Amino acid sequence: MSRSISSQHGEIVLADNELIVSKTCLKGKITYANRRFMSIAGFSEQQLLQQPHNIIRHPDMPKAVYRLMWKTLQSGQEFFGFVKNLCSDGRYYWVFANVTPDIDERGQTRGYYSVRRKAPESAIRLIAELYQQMVTIEASGGGRSSIDQSAAHLQNWLDQNRLDYFPAMLRLYRHGQL
Ligand SMILES: Cc1cc2nc3c(=O)[nH]c(=O)nc-3n(C[C@H](O)[C@H](O)[C@H](O)COP(=O)(O)O)c2cc1C
Repeated sequence: MSRSISSQHGEIVLADNELIVSKTCLKGKITYANRRFMSIAGFSEQQLLQQPHNIIRHPDMPKAVYRLMWKTLQSGQEFFGFVKNLCSDGRYYWVFANVTPDIDERGQTRGYYSVRRKAPESAIRLIAELYQQMVTIEASGGGRSSIDQSAAHLQNWLDQNRLDYFPAMLRLYRHGQL
């Protein structure tokens, strides 16, 4: 079985077969974490449960990506995207996340869950560059309009590649390139 690799630069690279899973309530508070989630984040189950999911938020992640995630989930659809997360010791790891509404027997959304897998290195390089540009835009203005500008930058990037967001992300995950 392949194992995760931890580099000197603080990046933890997931093994091919690893799954990092969490569930939240409707407000995004953690209600379940699998063992791998706890071990990579560096938190115990007690430290994670009932905490907002932004407990592992990395500052290199654009706000516009989370806005899109929540908009997608609240419209009842699943979200796919690349995420850089923070560990409790300051290291980080990249994942490809599939976040889905958790629907009860009556068809009501009772929460959300996320399943994360290793992201291809070439995809991370492309996405990290895009996210850096978006974070710079978000930092330059502040407030809602800078997030709109960051989202517009993402849209331009997609338009240049003639792809919508989800097909682009899935292609990057599957093939490592657009
Ligand atoms: C099921 C689920 C999984 C999530 N996973 C992550 C995650 O791995 N990392 C993260 O930073 N935010 C994750 N979020 C989003 C957070 O709730 C939050 O919106 C994000 O960290 C941005 O934080 P902020 O709203 O305080 O800026 C997840 C949300 C849900 C509903």
